Amino acid sequence: MRFEQQVALVTGAASGIGRALVQRFVTEGAAVVAVDIVEAPLKALVTELELQGAKVTACVANVASDNDVEAMLTTATSTYGRLDILCNNAGIMDLMTPAADVPLDLWERVLAINLNGPFLACRRAIPLFLEQGSGSIVNTASEAGLRGGSAGTAYTVSKHGVVGLTKSIAFHYGERGIRCNAVCPGSVATAIGAGSGTPHEAGLSRVMPFIQGSAPSRIAAPEEIAAAIAFLASKDAGYLNGAILPVDGGWFAA
Ligand SMILES: NC(=O)c1ccc[n+]([C@@H]2O[C@H](COP(=O)([O-])OP(=O)(O)OC[C@H]3O[C@@H](n4cnc5c(N)ncnc54)[C@H](O)[C@@H]3O)[C@@H](O)[C@H]2O)c1
Repeated sequence: MRFEQQVALVTGAASGIGRALVQRFVTEGAAVVAVDIVEAPLKALVTELELQGAKVTACVANVASDNDVEAMLTTATSTYGRLDILCNNAGIMDLMTPAADVPLDLWERVLAINLNGPFLACRRAIPLFLEQGSGSIVNTASEAGLRGGSAGTAYTVSKHGVVGLTKSIAFHYGERGIRCNAVCPGSVATAIGAGSGTPHEAGLSRVMPFIQGSAPSRIAAPEEIAAAIAFLASKDAGYLNGAILPVDGGWFAA
């Protein structure tokens, strides 16, 4: 099993890609700290996995809060004694709103969760990894981190930021045993758009033809993204550092 004796922390663990990732890590032998801002589905997942004998701990936290981020990392070290893998996966959409129409509160919320969240967690995990002499970070960016036409401005900027964060950490810490990589999923069958509000009409009608014209017809299952994240997190990817991996059925190649 690839992750035996290893401890992984996954944010956005209650749903979609994060949920599939927790299941994947557990199946491959890791102890997991499963983090989400929403308590009930997180606790339900953890209870289900514990009944199967998994080592998994629920941690309710907001990745945009530095205090919560500190607490989630402390949960890993106080429960399992170490942390080997950090997966910054929690994220929200932005209603496809183009720059001039982005309300300030939407901009701040999207950037706080999608970009500050990964930064805050990396900032606190890197010293732990340096002390241990090793550590692997995998950030969930997006197709919107690679191009301008697949989401609104706030989401696009946040995911381009995640790509930059990934490369910067790889550059600064690679020689000291830390790898930092990112996946850029295309369209994935998750709850991410559900209940976030009415999409911006003009933004949506501009983006959709580009998505429909170039994206592969098949939508990914969350497990397919989780498999790629697990690969990047694992020693199988020991020589990958700073890699920005599209996991999009060929969308970015078009
Ligand atoms: N679904 C897609 O098509 C797609 C495509 C590209 C990238 N992504 C990225 O994949 C990641 C996972 O999204 P998903 O599609 O699985 O969506 P999802 O909505 O199914 O899961 C996201 C999880 O993040 C949690 N979350 C939201 N804000 C949080 C916060 N402040 N603190 C802690 N947890 C928080 C939610 O409660 C939810 O459980 C996101 O970063 C998203 O941007 C998704």
